[in-house]
Amino acid sequence: MEIDVFTLFPEWFDWFLQERHVSNALAAGSRLQPVNLRSYTPLSGGQVDDTPFGGGSGMVLRVDVVDSALHGYYGLQATELRRRRRVIALAPSGKMLDEPLVEELASESALTLLCARYEGFDERIVEHFASDVLSIGRYVLSGGELAAMVVCDAVLRKLPGALGDDRSSIEESFSAALGGSPEYPHYTRPAEHRGWRVPEVLLSGNHRRIEEWRRERSRERGARSQS
Ligand code: ADE
Repeated sequence: MEIDVFTLFPEWFDWFLQERHVSNALAAGSRLQPVNLRSYTPLSGGQVDDTPFGGGSGMVLRVDVVDSALHGYYGLQATELRRRRRVIALAPSGKMLDEPLVEELASESALTLLCARYEGFDERIVEHFASDVLSIGRYVLSGGELAAMVVCDAVLRKLPGALGDDRSSIEESFSAALGGSPEYPHYTRPAEHRGWRVPEVLLSGNHRRIEEWRRERSRERGARSQS
């Protein structure tokens, strides 16, 4: 998997790239490359955004800047790129990211993520360059970088070798193995703390009962999160 993230703040990704499962995924052959939009701007003084036509507060990421960045980096017309790989603009108005969508993205060989700041993208970026607009929740962040990291985190941990134990991503919340329900509760030592005991079944060594108990708790949590 090859992921390029176009951003005004590539240094935000420095710590993220060092995270264990991210560096594992990279060591296993994936690539995550932050690309500085400012390095490609055709405008003087490193300008990348401008005030909105029609008035209003905030700044809007310019279409000519993103056009030039995609063309400069990939050596292709920016309008052509989305025919070759998913080009994802991150915006609060986008399609909500969920586990099936993460699985879908993890099956791609390459992704391009576009991050805007302040008032977001000039709409022509979305119309002409993006294949998808994704949101990580119905709230507004000050830019797309954290959302891009959420997408990268969720996608990269699906790839072989990212987690120490590949089974960790099979039976986890919202997975097919749990019928799309949240994961069951976990407990570890001590078996009792301040009088709070771990459910006896988990200490029983009876794998069939443990399995049943876990499925039941997972279904209960699923029903609760719907209400
Ligand atoms: N950019 C700003 N807010 C966002 C959100 N909630 N999801 C994705 N990108 C964003």
